Amino acid sequence: VEFEFDIRDLFPQEIIRVQPHLLRPQTLSALLKDQNPKAAPPTPGYKLSRIIDEMGQLSAVAQGLRTAVTTAEKVVDNMTNHVIYLMADSESGRWAVTGLLKVGTKDLFLFDEKGVCRRADQTPAILDFYIHESRQRRGLGKAIFDKMLADQGWSPCKCSVDRPSPKLLGFLAKHFGLVRTIPQGNRFVLYEGFFDDVPPEGQRSRGTR
Ligand code: ACO
Repeated sequence: VEFEFDIRDLFPQEIIRVQPHLLRPQTLSALLKDQNPKAAPPTPGYKLSRIIDEMGQLSAVAQGLRTAVTTAEKVVDNMTNHVIYLMADSESGRWAVTGLLKVGTKDLFLFDEKGVCRRADQTPAILDFYIHESRQRRGLGKAIFDKMLADQGWSPCKCSVDRPSPKLLGFLAKHFGLVRTIPQGNRFVLYEGFFDDVPPEGQRSRGTR
């Protein structure tokens, strides 16, 4: 996805983690810019917000959703626990954004393998994931996902997945061998192994992280 502004300065490497604080002042600057587009060059916050809105919208379309799961405004609202990774390349001769991955932590009530309901605070959650159609099935999804896992210190089977699409189910099965799910009563999908090594109820202070 190409933008009307230069994105190179935002991507010192191909995958970046977005700093939400950069987005906050953007709202105002975007408004000002709309009123007077020639007044000032776009700020990093403005650029990142535009990129997130656009990629979030494309992700929603790819998943057949009516509204986007990811917008810059929602990221600002959830500043404390949503993290966005963006990916870009210059393969076509111009810098283009190729992927978005949004993760966070959730306090959830989850069923374990025995059907016992457990409270799981601060559960790692995969919230939105999109690789542009022109780049899918070339390992880019794996690259950004691996970067996120290393950055967050998470292992794949400890992640809950918010309403995974068929493509994401295939992705997790292929790259991480995640196939056997633990049935849940909510929209999250959990995989076997999620509850392994979790101390029994009463010995835990902060749920299953
Ligand atoms: N059909 C079926 N499986 C697919 C497809 C597809 N069109 N595309 C990717 N996959 C799965 C397959 O397992 C594939 O392996 P294969 O090519 O050997 O069959 C594997 O993913 C490829 O791995 P990568 O190349 O590393 O992944 P990719 O860069 O294609 O990114 C992603 C995967 C993000 C799921 C991408 O397909 C995508 O953006 N899909 C559309 C949006 C979407 O469904 N996002 C997930 C929403 S749910 C959520 O975010 C919680």
